[in-house]
Amino acid sequence: TELSHIRNFSIVAHIDHGKSTLADRLIQSTGTVQDREMKAQLLDSMDIERERGITIKAQTVRIDYKALNGETYVLNLIDTPGHVDFAYEVSRSMRAVEGSLLVVDSTQGVEAQTLANVYHALDADHEIVPVLNKIDLPASEPDRIKEQIEDVIGIDASEAMLVSAKTGQGIRETLEAIVHRLPAPKGDRDAPLKAMLVDSWYDLYLGVVVLVRIMDGKLRKNDRIRFMQNGTVHQVDRIGVFKPGMLPVEELGPGEIGFLTASIKQVRDTKVGDTITHEKKGTETPLPGFAPSVPVVFCGLFPVDSAEFEDLRNAIEKLALNDASFSYEMETSAALGFGFRCGFLGLLHLEVIRDRIDREYNIDLITTAPSVVYNVHMKDGEMIELHNPADMPDLTHVSHVEEPRIKATIMVPDDYLGDVLKLCQDRRGIQQELTYAGSRPLVVYDLPLNEVVFDFYDRLKSVTKGYASFDYQITGYRQDNLVKMSILVNDEPVDALSMMVHRDRAEMRGRAMVEKLKELIPRHMFKIPIQAAIGGKVIARETLSAMRKDVTAKCYGGDATRKRKLLDKQKAGKKKMRQFGKVDIPQEAFISALKMD
Ligand code: GTP
Repeated sequence: TELSHIRNFSIVAHIDHGKSTLADRLIQSTGTVQDREMKAQLLDSMDIERERGITIKAQTVRIDYKALNGETYVLNLIDTPGHVDFAYEVSRSMRAVEGSLLVVDSTQGVEAQTLANVYHALDADHEIVPVLNKIDLPASEPDRIKEQIEDVIGIDASEAMLVSAKTGQGIRETLEAIVHRLPAPKGDRDAPLKAMLVDSWYDLYLGVVVLVRIMDGKLRKNDRIRFMQNGTVHQVDRIGVFKPGMLPVEELGPGEIGFLTASIKQVRDTKVGDTITHEKKGTETPLPGFAPSVPVVFCGLFPVDSAEFEDLRNAIEKLALNDASFSYEMETSAALGFGFRCGFLGLLHLEVIRDRIDREYNIDLITTAPSVVYNVHMKDGEMIELHNPADMPDLTHVSHVEEPRIKATIMVPDDYLGDVLKLCQDRRGIQQELTYAGSRPLVVYDLPLNEVVFDFYDRLKSVTKGYASFDYQITGYRQDNLVKMSILVNDEPVDALSMMVHRDRAEMRGRAMVEKLKELIPRHMFKIPIQAAIGGKVIARETLSAMRKDVTAKCYGGDATRKRKLLDKQKAGKKKMRQFGKVDIPQEAFISALKMD
């Protein structure tokens, strides 16, 4: 296709503002798929995404559009992941296209994620077409939202599209705007091949499928290509485009977006953002700004039933095959036995993986407290990347510890502003900005990532009744007074519960932990001390008193069904416990104990 007849774009939106519905409508209205093949939200392919309504992997679709001027254009839509965990992938996929539709729910307005994503688009020099969605709803306020977009984002919204992705209103106009307002891609057909690796995933039949944007040159079947990051060479066995099913093509030229397969075994070998060129007569200069996604949140995954360790290994290996940003290594814990220390891009990523192990492989898991990566500087000058608080070296050898910090952007209605400021303050946040986006406060905080990974988002939702929106990016490492806190149950340290805390907050957290554990651990036949300690020093302590074993004793004979129910319940409860010395600790304790109210 001629460059002048190609338009490449992405859709930028806050969650639930209608990105998927709009994409579906664009695809459907151009006859790219027949109505009866049209599944709602075609682009979210994985079940789990569908259920949670989030888009995880970038997907793409090629739309042939016959414009009102009689010419036919190729419109390539790249769907970007919507969640902060995947920020790097968002920014890469933005670099593969020239423009964005900025979708804003006209009943809601600009939200934190709208901002975060629009900044990625502006960074990538996009032409941006604002789209006010949901104008079919009575609560729609297009004029107010236009003003807000101009105030907050600083782009011209006077010619924003007025759209209902639900009824189809404004879809034709939006397609015309894509053709006439977004720029055509640039590229040189005769230059050496330069293709950007936008995304990759594992397909059961084809092996690894690589999504590419051709910048210069052309790509054909049977070409021998080189991945410039690790220098590996492969022979291309298929190329094609998504319509949205895979359709083979003869050639992909400059400006085009499509896929290739080349008998690649692991997604790990294909790094998002890498440059692909020909083995012979390739380019010397890769595309700028390659930075691999690195895991920032780590936790231990252990099978509840130690006999399931091999099943867990199998599940983790399979998942890792298709997810280059998920890392794992074997771990043994005195308390939990054999398991894996796993690294994730963020909390959502962690949850998705944990869910899939549970659902697709049916393995009951104990998840230990998520932890960030600390840089531990030793007195002898060595620096250790600490992925697991249990491995924290003895304090006498440690010079200082640094932790990752984030820049968090939060938007919230005025009524809840005070609660949000308090929450951020309580989490060791440093306020950087407090401005207004139209009539809504926008706060920017510098926060330690470790105060956010655990339950910050849940807390934020609950103190604002769901009205706050939140986005973050990691800004760097900073030294602080951080120590390891251990938890002892019945005088035995439970390594899976140890955590890094700020020294000033250790007492408070330790107290909260032991109180929580006292509630979570059932009574035993003997007294159980529960303690929090730093080094050898106990900083908080509770005692769980002993009880009689027979839980049915208080049923005063009589009701046999009630008695049986109670015994069954006790049995079921047992299954989900782990023994620590002589003490049973329920599985949920490992997560719940760390939540702070
Ligand atoms: P994520 O994929 O979760 O990021 O959300 P999204 O931005 O893709 O939003 P989605 O398309 O899933 O739409 C969110 C909700 O809004 C769904 O219940 C849609 O049916 C609804 N919706 C989308 N567009 C419109 C519209 O124009 N009018 C009305 N009334 N509802 C809409």
